[in-house]
Amino acid sequence: MAKSTPPPGTADIFPEEISRWYNLEDTARKVFSLYGFGELRTPIFEYTEVFKRGLGDATEVVQKEMYTFEDRGGRSMTLRPEGTASVMRALLNTDVLNGNEKRVYYIGPMFRGERPAAGRRRQFHQIGVENVGRVAPELDAENIAMLMHYLEELKITGAELLINTRGVEKDRIPAAKMLKEYFGASIDTMCDDCKVRLENNVWRILDCKQTACQEFIESAPDVVECFTEETKEYFKRVCEILDSLGVKYTVDKRLVRGLDYYVHTVFELTHPGLGAQNAIAGGGRYEVHLPQQKKPLIGVGFAAGLERLIMAQEALRVINDERLALDCYIVSMGDAARAKALELSGKLRKANIAVIAEVESKSMKAQMRSANRLNAKHVVIIGESELEDNVFVVKNMSEGTQETISFDTDINEITKYFA
Ligand code: HAM
Repeated sequence: MAKSTPPPGTADIFPEEISRWYNLEDTARKVFSLYGFGELRTPIFEYTEVFKRGLGDATEVVQKEMYTFEDRGGRSMTLRPEGTASVMRALLNTDVLNGNEKRVYYIGPMFRGERPAAGRRRQFHQIGVENVGRVAPELDAENIAMLMHYLEELKITGAELLINTRGVEKDRIPAAKMLKEYFGASIDTMCDDCKVRLENNVWRILDCKQTACQEFIESAPDVVECFTEETKEYFKRVCEILDSLGVKYTVDKRLVRGLDYYVHTVFELTHPGLGAQNAIAGGGRYEVHLPQQKKPLIGVGFAAGLERLIMAQEALRVINDERLALDCYIVSMGDAARAKALELSGKLRKANIAVIAEVESKSMKAQMRSANRLNAKHVVIIGESELEDNVFVVKNMSEGTQETISFDTDINEITKYFA
């Protein structure tokens, strides 16, 4: 492997494509703030316990995918595989446990040791939101509506919203028993992962993608039958509010989600332009347990994968790549002219004009080539004769016109030539 290749499952993001990322981030800030959410930045690594306890020991992420290391003090640390547990840990430092709602969002890299594939990275980026501290179907529905609003602003059409209910603990005990009995009868013909899931996390069988397991999953009993009326009513209310908000969705009884902290509403957003890894966002209501905390933190939220949002935008051709706009490139001949070039570039930048000045002694032709390569809108030329006359020449590259300006001209006057 070439030394210049980043580690598998990671990628460099170059200036040519960075405007796509700014677009996702700026739009998130704009939309989420309309719903009263503020940005929270947490560390990218935490004590391992935060994730073990927060996501649940039996989740695949905790068992197989975490980047865990010992720090120099012998403490076990983990690069965050997702944002929710870290956010809950941070919010313990606020009055959220007294029932005071917190609305936060976060943007940043996450790390999972998965097998890299199209749309699946080991370092990927999420934009996530968490509405923490209160339980109400209205909040779940508002959260989903906010995700759809965000998507609309990103011009991502054609996404499918799947929703389901996971019930709460007391619903799950009889439901898990029912699933165990049902799958237990055919487990010998199911995949090895499902054999483990039968013991550890029977719900995840519903999510299995192996062909051998499909016929059993398709005729599995509906677990919601075991849920209490209260839980069913909660989910019905979420659906009603979504209907009244005009949000289109499909109830998918097999939607479980990969993390164990979910209760009540769960949802996932898929896009047909993505291939096998087609989830662009996922979320739901949760109860997150943290080390040394008796009570879980409750909330509802989601996270969207930025790489996948970009893939959806690419598939829909709604990407608008803005190249770095360079207003001016300064060409100079000789040491004295170069000194003047640096002086002028300082003044122009303070007047908000983007400038690169050549600093090497190169031929005029080579310098003009650089200006063209960088797509500069204007080229300033300071040659020997210009220096003698205390002037510089500004060439407008698209119109082919040029003006000669004195170095003594007021900067406000000078900037007009770069409009
Ligand atoms: P998640 O479904 O694990 O949920 O991840 C959310 C999104 O992150 C996925 O829908 C996908 O777009 C993106 N994603 C996940 N793994 C990868 C990967 N390896 N490569 C590229 N993109 C990926 C969570 O992380 C929850 N914390 C969401 C949440 C917030 N639930 C409640 N609040």
